[in-house]
Amino acid sequence: MKNSYPNIFIFNKKILKKVIISLNKSGVAGLPTETVYGLGGNAYSKKSVEKIFKLKGRSRSNPLIIHYYNLDNAIKDISINKNLIKLYNHFCPGPITFILKRKENSKVQPMACANLDSIAIRFPKHKVIRPLLKKIKFPLAMPSANKTSNVSPVKASDVFEEFKSKVKYILDGGNSKIGIESTVIDLTGSPQILRPGIISKKEIEKVLKLKLKNNNNKKVIRSPGMMKKHYSPGIPVRINQSKHDKKSAFIYLGKKYCNKKDFFSLSNDSNLKEAASNLYKTFRDIKKKGYKKIQITKIPNSGCGIAINDRIKRASKT
Ligand code: TXA
Ligand code: MG
Repeated sequence: MKNSYPNIFIFNKKILKKVIISLNKSGVAGLPTETVYGLGGNAYSKKSVEKIFKLKGRSRSNPLIIHYYNLDNAIKDISINKNLIKLYNHFCPGPITFILKRKENSKVQPMACANLDSIAIRFPKHKVIRPLLKKIKFPLAMPSANKTSNVSPVKASDVFEEFKSKVKYILDGGNSKIGIESTVIDLTGSPQILRPGIISKKEIEKVLKLKLKNNNNKKVIRSPGMMKKHYSPGIPVRINQSKHDKKSAFIYLGKKYCNKKDFFSLSNDSNLKEAASNLYKTFRDIKKKGYKKIQITKIPNSGCGIAINDRIKRASKT
């Protein structure tokens, strides 16, 4: 199907073949996942990994997530443990990333892991990425497909906005259902959440049958990507707001101000999962409408609200 973008393609067998040929030649592609769109390349190829860092403008000290079709394919690169197996069996494929010890003889480019002895792995669930991962002979190093510190893309045209024609192929997989990045959990020692996501601490504790430590060791940056200024829509964001200043875009939950100019609801039913899925889309829409500032109401800090608060807090840092 034709669209107005030169490098966005609707998924079909023919285009899948072309993308695979490009990835085999160390190309990188914009690819849909259930969380956000990624910028994927061969994790075993130095050239691919270098391209990813360069295109994103990403610091070499910030490691990438390596995406696999299934655990069998990942085993040669990681040290497995019981917690991994439990979480994998329960949640995968799905929106969760595991930090594990990296095997010394792993073929994953050390640069993709920022030369750490650990590795981040994920098994995404999306009808476009699954057949692709199944067909290729390498895992994909794949950060979110945005320039560093911008918000992650949740549809193919968002990826185009970020990289224009610098990537040859962007596969259109519709809107990312979850809309925020995967939960990142460190399993190298006692399990610890490094980045909250739609899969909550509570759900993980239930599967592991243990209480997780809080990530309050501020001195050690356990997840180098979790810098303060991140996920920024490019205009100032103020959180915990109760009064509209009459000029900013005001983000809230519910339908109290529906059809009212300047007001943007993340969910008419105040459903936090739906709110998370609409957050980045709303940021991008507001920016495009020309607003100079965003105000956000207080978001309950429970369930998916924890992940939303994590992202909006970072977006509000200047
Ligand atoms: O949902 C997602 O996870 C998306 C999709 C495309 O899969 N990907 C994504 O990747 O959000 P990225 O690169 O934007 O975020 C990866 C996060 C960063 O915060 C990074 O620091 C952390 O994972 N990370 C990667 N390897 C790590 C490691 N070895 N130890 C600790 N944190 C790591
Ligand atoms: Mg990112």
